[in-house]
Amino acid sequence: MAKIIIEGGNQLNGSIMVSGAKNAALPIMAGVILSTEPVELTNVPALNDVNTMDRVLQALGTRVENVGGNVYRFDASGQIGDEAPYELVKSMRASFFVMGPLLARLKKARVPLPGGCAIGVRPVNIHLKGFEALGATVSIEGGCAVAVADKLRGSKILLDFPSVGATENLMMAATLAEGLTQIENSAQEPEIVDLANFLNVLGAKITGAGSPTITIEGVEKLGGGRYRVMPDRIEAGTFAIMGAMNGGRVKVDNCDPCHLHALINKLREMGVEVDHDENSISVYASQRLKAVEIKTLPFPGFATDLQAQLMAAMCVANGTSSITETIFENRFMHVSELARMGASIAIHDRTAVIHGVESLKGAPVSATDLRAGAAMVLAGLVAEGRTEISQVFHIDRGYEDLVGRVRKLGASIDRVEDPENEE
Ligand code: UD1
Repeated sequence: MAKIIIEGGNQLNGSIMVSGAKNAALPIMAGVILSTEPVELTNVPALNDVNTMDRVLQALGTRVENVGGNVYRFDASGQIGDEAPYELVKSMRASFFVMGPLLARLKKARVPLPGGCAIGVRPVNIHLKGFEALGATVSIEGGCAVAVADKLRGSKILLDFPSVGATENLMMAATLAEGLTQIENSAQEPEIVDLANFLNVLGAKITGAGSPTITIEGVEKLGGGRYRVMPDRIEAGTFAIMGAMNGGRVKVDNCDPCHLHALINKLREMGVEVDHDENSISVYASQRLKAVEIKTLPFPGFATDLQAQLMAAMCVANGTSSITETIFENRFMHVSELARMGASIAIHDRTAVIHGVESLKGAPVSATDLRAGAAMVLAGLVAEGRTEISQVFHIDRGYEDLVGRVRKLGASIDRVEDPENEE
């Protein structure tokens, strides 16, 4: 099992390039099932989660070809199976995105329930209620969500919560439904807009993505096309926080600053100089960061996926910060790991209170989930001495060659294989 080893304290300077967005690429890949003509995607990040979705699509009968670099070709013109394999869905929640496309195309789908994960229970009740509103009969059989319909009919769907995954799954299902669908209280995340843009390139008729009401006029079929996946705003945010913590000048390239308003505002409140143009953000902090308070919220609020990374910065800020996590019920696993490095954090229900310390000390720590793992890298980069991060496979799910890219900024960071600790 690999480890990341960091000798902290180096100042970071230079440019770092952001990859394609994992959370846009995964639903878009699932959406390929809706089309019976060839589809090409570019800017697909090289990540374990993308490989898993690739295997799910192949298991369902889609031809997938990585034609080099970050370009993939898909052909779902053949016979498509209606049953997603348990082993793959179990290993990645986002596999559940195939449910909407399968139901739309085949009028039946059987997909294992993805189950919870380290950060929360994460049910799919909102997805299933939406499929029912579109005319499907939904049941749970042998641990699987099963949906069947004679045909899907457009409908008004009011989401109980603006769930990102449910909005995406329902948008895909409604694309081939008969008539008009309106999804109200829909999620407004940029990845929703990217999925809608992709589906529209293939011939779907979706308007309003990025607002609380999305309207989908069902079409009979989708054609082929080529689409470039948006840049990863969470990766961009992670790098901006990293730069702000390290006292150098870091330019985060190939990102869309409009996706990061909430973070940029908080970084400025912390005393960071933030400049941006259309597709880059530059950060520089000449002094110790100031404490701030944040609450995670659906977009355009502060992203839960950047909470752990900003907490790493708060650990060494001047004063007492707080984070209230409103999206997931158990997303403070990184707190005990940061504490191992000397952070002073108390948790009261869904709020973490962080008393900034002068410095963190390197220690052996675990990446308890994907973004928690990124937070440990950020903490390790500013800590005194050596930090050893285990369970790196979590980081590999969401960051392409993180070590290589951060090293180019001047960090002392390495990845080593640890044969004594094979999984
Ligand atoms: C997506 C992102 C994830 C991010 C999250 C919130 C992907 C692949 N993942 O996850 O990185 O942290 O958005 O921005 O895009 N919920 C229900 N019932 C449902 C669906 C959701 O109760 O049917 C709850 C969840 O348990 C959670 C909250 O709603 O507490 C938000 O979940 P959701 O927006 O659906 O997140 P995901 O799509 O799973």
